[in-house]
Amino acid sequence: MKTLKVYFATESGNSEGIANEIHREGTKKGYLVSSHDFNTFLKEKVSPEAFYVFIISTFGDGDPPTDSAASFRKIGRIARNFKKLDSGSKDSSESEYSQLKYAVLGLGDTNYSRFCNSSKTLIKHFETLKATSFYEAGFADDGTGMEQVVEPWVENLWSAIEKQSSGNSDGSAEPKPGNSISEIQDSKQSITSDVPETVEQLKTLSVNEVTTDEKEKVDLSSFYWNTFRTLKNTTNRKLNLDFSSFVNISKLQGVPKPIPSNLKLVKPKNCNIDSKSFADNLDLNKDVDFPSKMRYPQWLFTTNNNEGKFEYDSTLVDRVFLAKVAKVQSLTYKGASKRTLLFELDISPEIQTKQENSQSHVGLIGNEQAMNEWEAGDSFGILAPNDPNVVSAILNRVKVEKEKWHVPISLVGDAGGVGHHLKPFVVSLAEHENVQESTNEDPIVKENTDNSESGNSSLNSLFPTLFELFTYKIDITSCPKKQVLRVLSDYCSDPKEKTQLLILSSRSGTALYNTLRSESMMASILDVLNTFPSCDVPVETLLDILPPLTARPFSIASTPLSKTNMWRFGFNVVEHKLDGINELPDLQKEVKHDDDQGSTQLETVRYGVCTSFLDSIVGHPKHLENSPDSILPKFVLSDTLKLNSALKYVRELTPNELETNKDDKHGKNTIYIPVYYRQEMGKFRLAKLGDSETENHVENSVNGIEASPESTVSGKGKPSILISAGTGVTPFMGFIEQRLFEMVTKNITNPGLELYFGCRSYEKDFLFRKELEFYRNEGVLTQLKVSFSRENPSSVKQTMFLDGTGGNNTQQHAEIKYVQDILKQEPKSNEISGTIKKILYSDATVYVCGDALGMGKDVHSVLAGLLVQASAIEHHKQKILELVPADHPGFKDVNENKPISLVQANLILNIWAEIGKYKRDLW
Ligand SMILES: Cc1cc2nc3c(=O)[nH]c(=O)nc-3n(C[C@H](O)[C@H](O)[C@H](O)COP(=O)(O)OP(=O)(O)OC[C@H]3O[C@@H](n4cnc5c(N)ncnc54)[C@H](O)[C@@H]3O)c2cc1C
Ligand SMILES: Cc1cc2nc3c(=O)[nH]c(=O)nc-3n(C[C@H](O)[C@H](O)[C@H](O)COP(=O)(O)O)c2cc1C
Repeated sequence: MKTLKVYFATESGNSEGIANEIHREGTKKGYLVSSHDFNTFLKEKVSPEAFYVFIISTFGDGDPPTDSAASFRKIGRIARNFKKLDSGSKDSSESEYSQLKYAVLGLGDTNYSRFCNSSKTLIKHFETLKATSFYEAGFADDGTGMEQVVEPWVENLWSAIEKQSSGNSDGSAEPKPGNSISEIQDSKQSITSDVPETVEQLKTLSVNEVTTDEKEKVDLSSFYWNTFRTLKNTTNRKLNLDFSSFVNISKLQGVPKPIPSNLKLVKPKNCNIDSKSFADNLDLNKDVDFPSKMRYPQWLFTTNNNEGKFEYDSTLVDRVFLAKVAKVQSLTYKGASKRTLLFELDISPEIQTKQENSQSHVGLIGNEQAMNEWEAGDSFGILAPNDPNVVSAILNRVKVEKEKWHVPISLVGDAGGVGHHLKPFVVSLAEHENVQESTNEDPIVKENTDNSESGNSSLNSLFPTLFELFTYKIDITSCPKKQVLRVLSDYCSDPKEKTQLLILSSRSGTALYNTLRSESMMASILDVLNTFPSCDVPVETLLDILPPLTARPFSIASTPLSKTNMWRFGFNVVEHKLDGINELPDLQKEVKHDDDQGSTQLETVRYGVCTSFLDSIVGHPKHLENSPDSILPKFVLSDTLKLNSALKYVRELTPNELETNKDDKHGKNTIYIPVYYRQEMGKFRLAKLGDSETENHVENSVNGIEASPESTVSGKGKPSILISAGTGVTPFMGFIEQRLFEMVTKNITNPGLELYFGCRSYEKDFLFRKELEFYRNEGVLTQLKVSFSRENPSSVKQTMFLDGTGGNNTQQHAEIKYVQDILKQEPKSNEISGTIKKILYSDATVYVCGDALGMGKDVHSVLAGLLVQASAIEHHKQKILELVPADHPGFKDVNENKPISLVQANLILNIWAEIGKYKRDLW
């Protein structure tokens, strides 16, 4: 039997989903398959017989996914060390990876400038280590539809393995003919025979069989979140899809293989919780059939170890913990098109007594390790739950009886092909049948003192409810993948619907599938199920095929130099108006249409999962009423005392304390959210001023080229050029605050910070205007240049440049609309723009933060264009080339008297990104 080992490095679950698909398909084909997190790869010895497949996504700015970053660094080190030895006397066969037979599938998005960079880097390392590629790499583009590459790549993987095994290793595969629709429809038997009788299984759950566990009655009132939303997602939309061009089609190309679900929902055998009392304790709101206040389940605070078990380790810096929402404020003013909120989280551990709070959550509030490590510009993840109204609509749609929604369940099946997010909940049939009755000890408390095996299995005995799984673990909003549509087609009793789903899942139906993903449609799983009413998919199959709900990262907008326990962050409340009409009257938004003669139509709205959760738990703060005062308190930066009072002033500027917290310090209404610190050391950080030690040195270097450390002696920082639009300015608020503190404590007079900022309107959404004007007036910002894209071109407020003279120098610049236009229009001397000049001659670092697809891309291409322009002058070109490795093949054809090409300019920016001279945090 051939062995196939599949490794995935993922941030949002796509790679893992594909790895699981390969796992299931390979198992069906008779291979011995296992799938693992990439982190386990380096811990194991390479098996010369096995075939290794790597599914690797790229995140951040061409980086590996967060959890795999350390493993990537390690394989990089191994490759570099081997290269050094190899160039000496070392025999290539001595590389421990020379026996490795590998294939790489990279996932990326061409909207980002370093497409599939981490998978390409991994390939380079494998090449250095003299490993053997048995199948050509594939690079899938999320921007245009990953399926276009993923499907044929996976389809041809098997023949590549067979060819390699039989000695023919050109990696190519036979083209596959299309399948006739009836042929595909006939394949249903293979699926249904594997489908468990789920609903029946659920029906047999007896709600009164076991006795109540006292511990479950513990008052957890401080750790609930309020499920009430005034802004409700549309839950009854039907999609308007035009299948007319497929009327005469008889064959479909590229229909994904059906993948049978292997899970069954059963009543857990070793669960001592009485289902009825459990549900009764929930305080169900009978109108909506879910609790008005939902408890954060204890398993949310655990991590999955490599064996697919729950683990809780209170010493981990990146563990999930509860952060208290201390303050909230709207940053936008009446009339703004988007609502932007600023939150302040308190991450300090709270000392709790048994009486005050549930013992089972002791240790879950705050994180001291994170308090000691974070810096301005770092990010943290929020584990936001889905909108319970949507969860409820899905459970109704797949016909789960209401009394089964909130009872603890077990997932029985083979954990092998199941996603990482569900693995710890899965028990094998044998395990389930042999399970001994056990006491349901509080696992989290137990884990604090006990790291033994039994501790882990105790954690494994925490049973989720269906409602919880769909609320915290499953992505129910993003557009369903083709593979999911393929599975759904098998459950349609109406042949027309079945065929339509097959079309959508096939390569032939790609154009139509792309409309599902389009900005105006953004079809969710619920939309699809509503559109195909004959689809009777079992709930456990749905659980199995949908991707995991991922944490949403946010950039920290404060500095620990101010308060170590306080994370500020800002965000837009995401809201999309979509195509389609609602039919039910209970939806919140009624829009009168002129041509409707008085009838009402309901808007179809989709809210962002995390930002709408945050917005609703704090009661939907409204825009601020009045624009900020134009007159600012005047401080003169002449001595430290004055600056200290400036510090105090800045601290108190924003935001407001939450009303609920004022008289209720640790009480029932205190709001907590589950978060974790994303430990990415030195990623998007402003180098510290005044420290001469290693932390100022840039970690990376490319062939000896590296960015120089910050200036330490002259009281002057080298320029840091900060470029952002919208909420992208938030981490820069932390940077600026950091510099203010350094000015006070390290006697630095010129911190060298320059901010370029794009807003829409001066009055409505100039975020942090008061603070920024203040910082500029006090010299913490050397320059502040703001563009307003929605101001009238004749308005003096179309731009605001505060560039050294102080005061409010709003100017008219008809040609400036967006922040990148400011860079383009900057005064030039000797054909070199101010920004490029600072990069080349003052060793400036450029930081870009915010929207990846619009601003991030445009700023990148403006910078590349400015580099080309500057290189027309020979001495500037030489200076540019000094900052790239001398032997880099990309610059061999640079001619005298000719500027560099745009391709070369992009390459230079990528090199600068690697050495930390051009840092981006884009989302
Ligand atoms: C390192 C990092 C730092 C970040 N820092 C910040 C920050 O400081 N502030 C901030 O506001 N954001 C930040 N973000 C972005 C943030 O993590 C969230 O993505 C953002 O707030 C929206 O989250 P949401 O859950 O509300 O929206 P989601 O529910 O994730 O929706 C977001 C987008 O997904 C798309 N979408 C939704 N449903 C569908 C569908 N069915 N089909 C197709 N497309 C769909 C839409 O384009 C929508 O705009 C950061 C991201 C990263 C990676
Ligand atoms: C914030 C963010 C940053 C990204 N950065 C890059 C990038 O630099 N290069 C790239 O090719 N793809 C980038 N992508 C695209 C992802 O690689 C792509 O969506 C992939 O399918 C994610 O797979 P995963 O779910 O397995 O992590 C980025 C996506 C996001 C959301």
